[in-house]
Amino acid sequence: MLPLTARSASALKGRVRVPGDKSISHRALMLGCLAVGETRVEGMLEGEDVLATAAAMRAFGARVERTGEGAWTIHGVGVGGLLEPEDVLDMGNSGTSTRLIMGLVASHPITAVFTGDASLRRRPMQRVIDPLGQMGASFVSRSGGRLPLTITGRAPATPITYTLPVASAQVKSAILLAGLNTPGITTVIEKEPTRDHSERMLKGFGADLWTETTPEGTAIHVRGEAELKPGRIVVPGDPSSAAFPVVAAAILPGSDVLVENVGINPTRAGLFTVLKEMGADLAYENEREVGGEPVADIRVRGSALKGIEVPPEIAPSMIDEYPILAVAAAFAEGTTIMRGIGELRVKESDRIAMMAAGLAACGVRVTEEPEGLIVEGTGGAPVPGGATVAAKLDHRIAMSFAVLGQHAKAPVTVDDASPINTSFPGFVALMTGLGAELAVVEEQK
Ligand code: S3P
Repeated sequence: MLPLTARSASALKGRVRVPGDKSISHRALMLGCLAVGETRVEGMLEGEDVLATAAAMRAFGARVERTGEGAWTIHGVGVGGLLEPEDVLDMGNSGTSTRLIMGLVASHPITAVFTGDASLRRRPMQRVIDPLGQMGASFVSRSGGRLPLTITGRAPATPITYTLPVASAQVKSAILLAGLNTPGITTVIEKEPTRDHSERMLKGFGADLWTETTPEGTAIHVRGEAELKPGRIVVPGDPSSAAFPVVAAAILPGSDVLVENVGINPTRAGLFTVLKEMGADLAYENEREVGGEPVADIRVRGSALKGIEVPPEIAPSMIDEYPILAVAAAFAEGTTIMRGIGELRVKESDRIAMMAAGLAACGVRVTEEPEGLIVEGTGGAPVPGGATVAAKLDHRIAMSFAVLGQHAKAPVTVDDASPINTSFPGFVALMTGLGAELAVVEEQK
């Protein structure tokens, strides 16, 4: 346990860069391993989740090397060339690594065993077991489709057309990755758009992938028995990490912060749209394209926020940002209503329950619904604070309360900040560099 205490700060000022995008980093490693030849990645996130993917890809026979800060070289084995790992794959806290790599294994004639930490072992895997099972893979899992889990792939697998029952980029990506080594055309239909990094990067690696608008939603087709060409990938800063300094600056009067080089792919940038609607003084500067992804520097100044009803349709484009949005809402004038977010209950923790409990402990008026969260804001005044909040192995819960404590009458302690390293190594140093008041509490023996 690594307790972290947050105290009231004055204005945040400065210019920072957040670590590379987690979703894009995972995909760069996986596709690099399926290409024949050398792929070079710059700006890779070196958080624990991505390191779990790197370790797994080595276990499948690829050469994956770190050559400098954020610089990685991958020598792939080719589509269809994954070897059977000799040991159990420990995916740590990472749902993305687990679900996407299950997709890779599904169309290879190999067996792999996955496990993870207590959080990952609680998360539902049935959502990938169903479609990958239809493609021919077989599974032995704990009850409810939970880890530890064994998958045996089938080659050749059967191409399927699958309509996503939940809006999930992880499920979509797992099927598309399985489709790469499957004869014929594999199709995923999504009713609501989810992050499209897999599609963009697959095209960049030369896969034959195309989309089509149908009455049921967007159909994404990939032609199997693909040959992927290696290349160079530049990973932009993670908007889901940028969200923390952005909201901290927005709630602290007098702040002026520039977060440089942030990915603003529309399937990821919902929080920034919602903050603007709440009255945040937030602007994209220097908009450009980096490695097939839109990027900008985000300028944010402290300003009065007002509560809004967040449209449920926007949820997939900010699914990981609801915890920090709930923190912004705690300082807004009036009520912020977040509905249609039942998926939050199956993330690294039950984020609806964790935010409701933590905010209430810090003196914020909050109502929990089965698929929603309603927060009454202070109108800009500091919240009471003065509580210790549980992180439950959830990096985004830990970082959200570290931000809440920046504008609280009494300190807010997060009981265990160690999960922050899964996605945002250097979070405490980056925030304190801007003027945030954060201190790791030495553990008492
Ligand atoms: C991710 C997709 C999202 C997100 C997760 C990363 C990805 O999950 O919550 O942090 O990289 O594809 P779902 O697609 O399951 O909603």
